[in-house]
Amino acid sequence: MKSLIFNRLQQKNTLICDMALKIIDYNSEQYHQMVALRTEVLRKPLGMTYNPSDLEKEKDDILIGAFEDDRILGCCILTRLDEKTCKLRQMAVHPSMQRNGLGASIMNFAENVARDTGYTKMVLNARKTASAFYEKLGYQVSTGEFIEVNLPHLGMVKSIF
Ligand SMILES: CC(C)(COP(=O)(O)OP(=O)(O)OC[C@H]1O[C@@H](n2cnc3c(N)ncnc32)[C@H](O)[C@@H]1OP(=O)(O)O)[C@@H](O)C(=O)NCCC(=O)NCCS
Repeated sequence: MKSLIFNRLQQKNTLICDMALKIIDYNSEQYHQMVALRTEVLRKPLGMTYNPSDLEKEKDDILIGAFEDDRILGCCILTRLDEKTCKLRQMAVHPSMQRNGLGASIMNFAENVARDTGYTKMVLNARKTASAFYEKLGYQVSTGEFIEVNLPHLGMVKSIF
């Protein structure tokens, strides 16, 4: 674990949870929790699982998780594309926590981590069903519609310097 920020998630003065946003290590216990969450949120609903050779490639990525105590609530991954550009992938929030502001907090943390690493541009492939979430956070559609994991997607981009 290389970075840590505590965040109090509140909606209309009601405490949702106290959580820690962290960069986590590949193959750690926290990483295995992350893969389990991604499987539940991003793969099982599509009748899919992760290919071990795809997970192996994540050893060079920046792996981000939001935790309440030791339980993961949400995650994303940053992958280097070039010196100035990184790709945000595998954005997922536990179903019981969606629409409470957690996804926006993770994105904000991920953008700060990317900026600190020297990136000035974030790109992502958004499921069409989630593109309005990213638009609210300042991302703009940069491609036509295409299919990934059997779902319609849109390429999106944001300057983060
Ligand atoms: C998409 C996802 C990551 C968003 O995280 P979240 O914690 O639910 O989102 P937040 O509560 O932080 O939402 C921030 C804003 O975006 C809006 N929003 C969130 N999801 C949205 C969606 N699918 N469509 C439209 N608006 C959305 C919220 O209403 C909120 O708006 P507000 O600021 O006006 O109140 C989460 O719902 C999720 O994991 N969904 C299933 C997996 C998925 O689709 N992942 C993305 C793959 S590209």
